[in-house]
Amino acid sequence: MKQSKSKKDRKTSAWFQRHSNDPHVKQAQKEGKRSRAVFKLTEILDSSQIFIKKDAVIVDLGCAPGSWSEELTNYIDGNGKIIGIDLLPLSPIRGVTLIQADFDTPEGQQALIEALDGRKVDLVVSDMAPEMSGHKLVDQMRMIGLNEMTLHFAKQYLSPGGAVLMKTFMGEGYDTFRQEMGKTFKRIKNIKPTASRKTSPEFFLLGLDMKVWSES
Ligand SMILES: C[S@@+](CC[C@H](N)C(=O)[O-])C[C@H]1O[C@@H](n2cnc3c(N)ncnc32)[C@H](O)[C@@H]1O
Repeated sequence: MKQSKSKKDRKTSAWFQRHSNDPHVKQAQKEGKRSRAVFKLTEILDSSQIFIKKDAVIVDLGCAPGSWSEELTNYIDGNGKIIGIDLLPLSPIRGVTLIQADFDTPEGQQALIEALDGRKVDLVVSDMAPEMSGHKLVDQMRMIGLNEMTLHFAKQYLSPGGAVLMKTFMGEGYDTFRQEMGKTFKRIKNIKPTASRKTSPEFFLLGLDMKVWSES
């Protein structure tokens, strides 16, 4: 007997339909990119004032499947360094040190610090998002939690003048967090790249030109 589709099945097939019709998914497949997320990064890099030096040290938080890290390798030379961390495993990327760990744990952060090998960071990028529970407030608070961890890490390891780019959601806790960012960076921008789906609550916060401690 044919069974009617469950709500979960209907949601999944709607997602597949949207995904396969998405022009950025098609473009990513055509260009051999690991994810459509790469177009969010390229748009932000093209339109913002992030300047990446050839010998930059870049940390990519929530890097799987690796399209941002792979893209960033085009900006640096052999004196630069890219370190990516994710909960998930991912296939190797030439020129990128990959760590499979939870950034939100002392072990994950320790692994990152060891990979830095004493170098200061010029740019932190984070495309991390919490696993969505479906409960708006819970997801929002988890997102802001990841943002706070990212800012805390940036304050400790960014070099003066460094930058951070992180995904966030508008909602509870956002205003307070943005004020915190303002104490650390001279310039802050909110960016919603066109590759970011209109239906998604995500956008990106860019903090430029980290203040030295005496300025904050
Ligand atoms: C949207 S994907 C990133 C896509 C990536 N920027 C790219 O271009 O391929 C978000 C990633 O964040 C990771 N993530 C979420 N929370 C994390 C955490 N606490 N530590 C490490 N990775 C995390 C997820 O596993 C997921 O792979």
